[in-house]
Amino acid sequence: MKLGRLNHIGVATPSIADSIAHYRDVMGAAQISEPFDLPAQGVKVCFVDTPTGSGMDGTQIELIEPLGPDSPVAKWMEHKPYGGQHHLCYEVPDIEAARAWFEGQGKRILGPTRIGAHGTPIFFLHPKDMQGMLTEIMETPKSAH
Ligand code: CO
Repeated sequence: MKLGRLNHIGVATPSIADSIAHYRDVMGAAQISEPFDLPAQGVKVCFVDTPTGSGMDGTQIELIEPLGPDSPVAKWMEHKPYGGQHHLCYEVPDIEAARAWFEGQGKRILGPTRIGAHGTPIFFLHPKDMQGMLTEIMETPKSAH
């Protein structure tokens, strides 16, 4: 298992539009992507960049708004109506190797490996096996770095 960088922090919100205004006007974020639907995950998504000194490859905030009441994120938000920190996402160079590694550790993986919001394969690990944190593992985009 080769751990890569922290790619993003997933933040659930009842309104991506309101959250975009917050990150732009309160937090001073200059780079915020256009929101798009990710029906496979039941969410609308957009990315807020936090720049590093050397370019735009800083850790992102992934804003996620449930697409409907059946979205897993909608269920999660039943107890957190204002939203909040939902998951952490780490990059790995090889998604299949990472999946086999976590399976070998007895960690519960939530569903199949699938294509995530960055267009690369991802899977999620159960928070009860991950120090209380819903954890996303994402293959590093081939064009990056
Ligand atoms: Co994510």
